[in-house]
Amino acid sequence: MRRLALASLAAAPLLKRRRPAACQTPLTEVEARRVLQLFDGLLFDEEYGDIHLYDISVEEEQQVEGSGGDATYGELREEILEWLLAHCEMRPQDILCDLGSGSGRALLYLALRTGLPAVGVELSPTRHRCAETLKMLAQPFLCGEVTFVQGDLSETGPQRHATVVLFANKLFSEDIFRAVAR
Ligand SMILES: C[S@@+](CC[C@H](N)C(=O)[O-])C[C@H]1O[C@@H](n2cnc3c(N)ncnc32)[C@H](O)[C@@H]1O
Repeated sequence: MRRLALASLAAAPLLKRRRPAACQTPLTEVEARRVLQLFDGLLFDEEYGDIHLYDISVEEEQQVEGSGGDATYGELREEILEWLLAHCEMRPQDILCDLGSGSGRALLYLALRTGLPAVGVELSPTRHRCAETLKMLAQPFLCGEVTFVQGDLSETGPQRHATVVLFANKLFSEDIFRAVAR
């Protein structure tokens, strides 16, 4: 609770400055990191000492693994995402996508930083629900539409329109990688 309160305080200047209707420009790195602090306040489990999304039920794990995926969890940190932004020139017509979007934290960070629309696909219902919650928190600062789909990344969906795709290809089999690339 204390972390959430602190995180809310950190984001207070942003809330004053930016309302949904006024959102026209993407956030700076400092501003986007403040929104991530809001996320961390929600996700962090004091007792566990980390975010609780690493643990999903056995049934969910089987659902993810049964699809040829890997239920192992991990999130791209903002340092890596900043590296990506520095090296991958985004165009105004781009649509971002994260295949296996987990909590949505990484994709939301990129959407906040670029102002671009984005689609995340996640098979685990628990992680998908989390992404929807974080999206609500980020909504006042988002310029483009962000959609999270609960489903299998190798199937088709709104992600077919994506032009910039994050994919942890080392977690998936060669066959899935080929299907996704197609
Ligand atoms: C290593 S995590 C990456 C999370 C996120 N991309 C990030 O960087 O913060 C990989 C995610 O892919 C999901 N996943 C695995 N197989 C999947 C599949 N076939 N379809 C959709 N999601 C899948 C897992 O549940 C997990 O949340």
